[in-house]
Amino acid sequence: MTASWPVGLAGIGYGADYYPEQWSPAVRTEDLALMREAGVSIVSLAVFGWASIEPREDEFEWEWLDRTMDALHDAGIRVALGTATASPPPWLTRRHPEILPVDREGRTLWPGGRQAYAVSHPLWREYALRMAGRMATRYGRHPALALWHVDNELAAHVPRDYSDAAAAAFREWLRRRYGTIERLNEAWLTAFWSQRYAEFAEVLPPRLAPTDANPGAELDFRRFSSDTWRDWLVALGDAVRPHSPGVPVTTNVITMTGSDAVDLFRWRDAVDVVAADHYTHGADPERHIELALAADLARGLARGGPWLLAEHAASAVNWQPVNLAKGPGEMFRNSLAHVARGADAIMFFQWRQSVAGAERFHSAMLPHAGTDSRGWRRSVALGRALGRLAEVRGSRVRAQATILVDYEAWWAAELPSGPSASVRYAEQLRRWHAALWRQGITADIRHPADDLGAHPLVVVPTLTLADPGLAGRLETAAAGGAQVVVAFFSGILDPRGHVVTGGYPGLFRGLLGVRSDEFAPLPPGRRVGLDNGMRAALWTEHATPVDAETVSRFADGPAAGAAAITRRPIGAGAAWYVATALDGSDLDAFCAELLRAAGVRPPVAAPQGVETVVRCGAEHDYLFVINHNSTDAALDVRGTELLSGRESPDGLTVGAGRVAVLRLPRRESVERRTTHARNA
Ligand code: GLA
Repeated sequence: MTASWPVGLAGIGYGADYYPEQWSPAVRTEDLALMREAGVSIVSLAVFGWASIEPREDEFEWEWLDRTMDALHDAGIRVALGTATASPPPWLTRRHPEILPVDREGRTLWPGGRQAYAVSHPLWREYALRMAGRMATRYGRHPALALWHVDNELAAHVPRDYSDAAAAAFREWLRRRYGTIERLNEAWLTAFWSQRYAEFAEVLPPRLAPTDANPGAELDFRRFSSDTWRDWLVALGDAVRPHSPGVPVTTNVITMTGSDAVDLFRWRDAVDVVAADHYTHGADPERHIELALAADLARGLARGGPWLLAEHAASAVNWQPVNLAKGPGEMFRNSLAHVARGADAIMFFQWRQSVAGAERFHSAMLPHAGTDSRGWRRSVALGRALGRLAEVRGSRVRAQATILVDYEAWWAAELPSGPSASVRYAEQLRRWHAALWRQGITADIRHPADDLGAHPLVVVPTLTLADPGLAGRLETAAAGGAQVVVAFFSGILDPRGHVVTGGYPGLFRGLLGVRSDEFAPLPPGRRVGLDNGMRAALWTEHATPVDAETVSRFADGPAAGAAAITRRPIGAGAAWYVATALDGSDLDAFCAELLRAAGVRPPVAAPQGVETVVRCGAEHDYLFVINHNSTDAALDVRGTELLSGRESPDGLTVGAGRVAVLRLPRRESVERRTTHARNA
């Protein structure tokens, strides 16, 4: 049976992307000694290795990789082995320039960077699958092999390819989806603007056009592109699996909230282990909260099980306008926050900082300065700390709320020619998640098609496109006691992307007991007041409660007098509608009200800015306390602090910027401390 975790990886895994091909044999020898010193237990290898393995067609230089695999094995370090296909070697694109991808404007994306291949091109697939197969034949039974790391951040640089190869594949995808051209014409409403197709051969990707393309075509092209990359992930996985029975397959996906390239919920079943990459934006004051969201998303992809942080940065990255170094303790807090939220392995890009190449100024576990550096000491300290958390491995995060996330809804919310280009899905998602975070509440991220779970609070941020069956399922959750809250511009489109008529919010009208006859989005910078004193921006609408209580109305602005917040009691719970984007502090206050209604409390009372998350193991609960403040935090909680090994009989003090992980005795278990509406 295929393992669901890297084979032979014990405790909380620790490591990095390792590129021995950049270094001399002497440096590689030193690498191994230093990896042991830092407590490294797993590295990703040969992710971009193709040109170093096959510098000319059919001429192979395996020795460096053979030696590295053997040496890592001797050092007791497990390997997440790349398929070496993340970038084609120069000889391939020179011989076959037709495999290069093309952007929306028709420009070829040339080699010289990375990922310069058209994922749909049959010739690319043939060459790359052969390479993956070679890797698997050679190393599939190597004792160091713990995990296959397929390609790298698939779709990162070329989320959508508009080449002729992509056009042909898009037509095939459409043929499978619609069967007949008439059904495609209906779905896209091509009667508009003289777009009616007589046959699939006439259909093109939505390339640069005189004006906005058909939104149905745009939506389907995004679905197609995501499916195509997924299909490529599956193909590469299938190329290696037969050679390494039992060894799991993964690929590192991007969970940053800026990234909507692919539908990760459709991807999660294509891997045996969920592996996520996460980078913070140094200038974002709430980057630690965005990190929490990304980690919650990774856990959601893993259906609550363990996941692997495949990459994050030891300090600065190299791809932001100004690459801020992480502040004191920030890397440690970042890493431990991922563990708190379910990561059972913590890896970096990369092991040793490069001296040349595009990422020479990207931080690494071992910086340019060498071992006499703060960076190295931080890497060693983190390795020690993770070593002390071995028993946490396999425990599951306990959340108190559910947030629904859907990439299709994300795409639909931001299609061209919508009501407001200022409505950004990720921003709205982040605002709701952050409001819960500030209340000390951990949220599980689920897809709307998932089991909605049993949490007493379900948050539905801007879900513009939805399945018609969702409203009934949310109604059932509310009837069972949940507080369900739906934000503006939700339920507007059906899965084809057609507007649901009869009044907004279309699909959720009955659930919410509200009907709007017109949107009234606000221009940038404009704010409105509510009659309860709250302030809001971005969106208003002419909403009337039909079967709901009006909690608050717009006091001014284009929809003055219309309902801004409504509540429809349903059974033991309720469905709330928020027809605007409340100001940050008002959204916090509103979430506090929802949590009171849901009977949800944080696991332990903590000052604002102190993150508390619980992981539940078979024997113990583990309380992670991450102090993001510049002052010490005192918490009324007792147990064994695992990082220091000390007991905290008189309560716990967590220093400014520091982290504590408390093993709670069972009787103090947070399960009993957390009030649940249903148990109350
Ligand atoms: C991505 C890639 C890595 C590296 C890092 C740099 O995550 O997967 O190869 O480029 O970005 O931040």
